[in-house]
Amino acid sequence: MKEEIYKKPKQKNDFPPNLENYEEAADTFTWKDARPYVDWVDGGLNAAYNAVDRHVQTWRKNKVALFWEDEAGVEKKYTFEDISLLSNKVGNILKDFGVERGDRVFLFLPRVPELYFSFLGILKIGAVAGTLFSAFQEQALADRLENSGAKVLFTTSELKPRVDKIRKKLPALEHIIVIDDPSFIKSVERASDELHIAKTDPDDYAFMLYTSGTTGKPKGVVHSHRAVIQEHLTARWVLDLRDEDTYWCTADPGWVTGIAYEILGSWSNGVAALVYAGRFDPDRWYKLLDKYNISVWYTAPTAIRMLMAAGMDVVKKHNLTHLRHLCSVGEPLNPEAIRWGLKVFGLPFHDTWWQTETGAICIANYPAMDIKIGSMGKPVPGLTAAIVDDKGHEVAINTEGNIAIKPKWPSMMHTIWKRPHKYKSYFTNGWYISGDRGLKDKDGYFWFIGRADDVIKTSGERVGPFEVESALVAHPAVVEAGVIGKPDMMRGEIIKAFVVLEKATLEKTKTKPQEEALKEELSVYVKKHLAGHAYPREIEFMDKLPKTRSGKIMRRILKAKELGLPIGDTSTLEDY
Ligand code: WT7
Repeated sequence: MKEEIYKKPKQKNDFPPNLENYEEAADTFTWKDARPYVDWVDGGLNAAYNAVDRHVQTWRKNKVALFWEDEAGVEKKYTFEDISLLSNKVGNILKDFGVERGDRVFLFLPRVPELYFSFLGILKIGAVAGTLFSAFQEQALADRLENSGAKVLFTTSELKPRVDKIRKKLPALEHIIVIDDPSFIKSVERASDELHIAKTDPDDYAFMLYTSGTTGKPKGVVHSHRAVIQEHLTARWVLDLRDEDTYWCTADPGWVTGIAYEILGSWSNGVAALVYAGRFDPDRWYKLLDKYNISVWYTAPTAIRMLMAAGMDVVKKHNLTHLRHLCSVGEPLNPEAIRWGLKVFGLPFHDTWWQTETGAICIANYPAMDIKIGSMGKPVPGLTAAIVDDKGHEVAINTEGNIAIKPKWPSMMHTIWKRPHKYKSYFTNGWYISGDRGLKDKDGYFWFIGRADDVIKTSGERVGPFEVESALVAHPAVVEAGVIGKPDMMRGEIIKAFVVLEKATLEKTKTKPQEEALKEELSVYVKKHLAGHAYPREIEFMDKLPKTRSGKIMRRILKAKELGLPIGDTSTLEDY
């Protein structure tokens, strides 16, 4: 392996990183040492209290916690005290609705300020918050709300019709709160802003997120209040957040990054954060970096690649000299993107690796550590990561295997909602097996190789092929579908579907325009029923799909054929 190393400039003594010496911390730090970084109240630990309320007792009370701006340019500002009081109000409103500890309260909201303080209000009364990406459509919503048994749902008048369509399937859902409805606005005005914060146990459930695997419905990954410990420390050590920073995490709280590093871990460090509630646009993004004097920026490789594609002229218009630390997550960070960052911002992007299930950053590049370009870095101090074989035995240096972590770490998921066997299946021989393949080099740096399963990563978002296949076969023209991730320069992967058509449709789809029209119809169908981001950008019609003798579609073969790779072992393949 030829290594390209970015050597960190010598630290200025007056401005050392929060984690000055990675190796020393990695050797000596244990999670017990984390105790002083979070506030325990009478032996209880509440993640929302740690994110916001504890700051209200300090000079940070009147510090801006949230700078908010939407696509139209509307701006809002909230101090830590504002967020504390608003989340107290939401907590009281929920209590009036009869929400109790352990009840699930879901948020189906775009990135509006209400999302942030409602999330915190839910945790403060000991209920469990679930976030739903606003691009979700009926099927994705029904799967998640049904399985979680959510009692209350927050949404907007614009998104509500999607919920109304599936309401029959949700007997546990007692209340829908429409945040732009005058009655809710009034109830916030009237509600008391004093709330007794629940003395939650560190292992009480705090939030849950649905994520996709290879087969079956999305699974509800459940996290406890304890997660805030690791979220806090990684925000401190990896994102290097400080009081003087203005920080921008571009993720949506519908995904775990938006919860861990836009609400809990970042605010628990008392940092002022920007939330931009609009779509991606290079010029606008640079404008925001400039206008808010962003110093720490946490984003994703697809966004970086899109900025690279937008070219230098757009960058040059803006003053980006406030930037001091850049991080990335969600998919492999191309070496080219790091070189580009160095050229344009004079700073390297620091890759970080983790998952919905791990609850916080687990492997990372640190401000004080040289970067081996293309590597994900080293395990977070306190955590043991390794490369193991399928039986859970460590493999030799530079050998490909499963990226694994030694349980338990503070932000480790607690269960898969209602699927204890699924939860157990993550663990082998005392290791948590991530589903990612990688290797560790002689210096202890981890390198990502690929997924061990068929899970698709498109623009950093995790999509289960089974969900897309199910959405496709719900269309009357489709008999069968096999879905894969196809490598894509910009999005990492795009979703490609191989579809077998029903006979009558097949006969009516003889010409190229007819074919194209049907492909478009199927794409739109998935977009409208499953989710706006999880539709196939490419569709290919097939006479039949490769299957095992037991009838399982072999996506591996579809992928190999697509990429022109050897098909591999076909001994279980049905005559094809
Ligand atoms: C999967 C987890 C946790 C943040 C958002 C994603 C892929 C994540 C990296 C990285 C290569 C990465 C893995 C992982 N992934 N970070 N630095 N390099 N791949 O959370 O939706 O649960 O996805 O994202 O495949 O398993 P998620």
